Amino acid sequence: AYEKFQAEIETLSAQADVLSLKSSYLGKKGAVSEILKSLKDATPEERKEIGPKANEIKQEIEKLVAKKLSDIELAQINEKLSKNKIDITFTDAVKAKNNNHGGFHPRTLVQQEVEDIFLSMGFEVLDGPHIETEFYNFEALNIPGDHPARDMQDTFWFKDEKSPEGNKHLLRTHTSTIQVRGMQSRKPPFRFIAPGTVFRCERTDASHEMVFQQLEGMMVGKDISVSNLIYFMKEILTEIFKKDVEVRLRPGYFPFVEPGFELDIKCQVCSGKGCSVCKQVGWVELLPCGMVHPNVLRAGGIDPEEYNGFAFGLGLDRLVMMKYGIDDIRHLQSGDLRFNSQFKEY
Ligand code: PHE
Repeated sequence: AYEKFQAEIETLSAQADVLSLKSSYLGKKGAVSEILKSLKDATPEERKEIGPKANEIKQEIEKLVAKKLSDIELAQINEKLSKNKIDITFTDAVKAKNNNHGGFHPRTLVQQEVEDIFLSMGFEVLDGPHIETEFYNFEALNIPGDHPARDMQDTFWFKDEKSPEGNKHLLRTHTSTIQVRGMQSRKPPFRFIAPGTVFRCERTDASHEMVFQQLEGMMVGKDISVSNLIYFMKEILTEIFKKDVEVRLRPGYFPFVEPGFELDIKCQVCSGKGCSVCKQVGWVELLPCGMVHPNVLRAGGIDPEEYNGFAFGLGLDRLVMMKYGIDDIRHLQSGDLRFNSQFKEY
């Protein structure tokens, strides 16, 4: 009976047929059930011999049925899958026809790249508030209330008469605020960068915006020198541009560094010939930097007798412009898709 069942079940491919075959063997009037029933008229010897065998056959049949049913189910799934194939070329086809999927803004692309470079050099990445107090934006950076350097950065002030003198609120004019916050919350030696938006009440032109991005950097430790600073700055620019870019170092004045430098790069928009971005001079101020002023270290809770360091304020928007040859900073904030979509990576 078992062999016959085996042969029969082989030929079936529908669940219902398998179930009815099963019942014709194991059902009430089924062949195997009949055998088991007939045992009551058998002799004890016959029972001993036939009983276990019949039970064995019953179990084998049940196993075969279960396997067959699952085979059938699998075949059905496979058939469905082969009919409803997913067209993996479909999304590419849509992209080609209708290229309006999102992409990263060139600023984001450059910022991510620069962050990676600094992370690989052991820098942390910090963040800080856009709305700051006079203390963090000026005083702690060695720019007291009557200091003429306050005029270097046209500030957006909040109307908050209630705040005590020296603690009035403003939109940060540079990311140097995070130098102070960073120093206050860690112990030397440390190194960090802080990319972010800054605000200045300025006339806009091809190279100036009221809202723009800087990337602050600070390294504090023992016996840090100007040559360490220059080495780092050059190394970073080579990493960013993936080639040797021409740079020049000039003395620069910022109350929070001494000595201070302006690191300019050869304008990549006009290759130094002169254009609206470099104001016809062929060079772009990209990386102001210097050795941290002792008063600033003190304001951050660090003893300048024991530690020193350097700081820099990379102009991120200008860097984006130099990398991609963008001739007007205002494009970056325009929200114009014709501009933005040129930077998709495919
Ligand atoms: N905070 C300065 C600015 O915005 C740049 C700077 C940062 C200069 C750090 C020196 C050191 O103009």
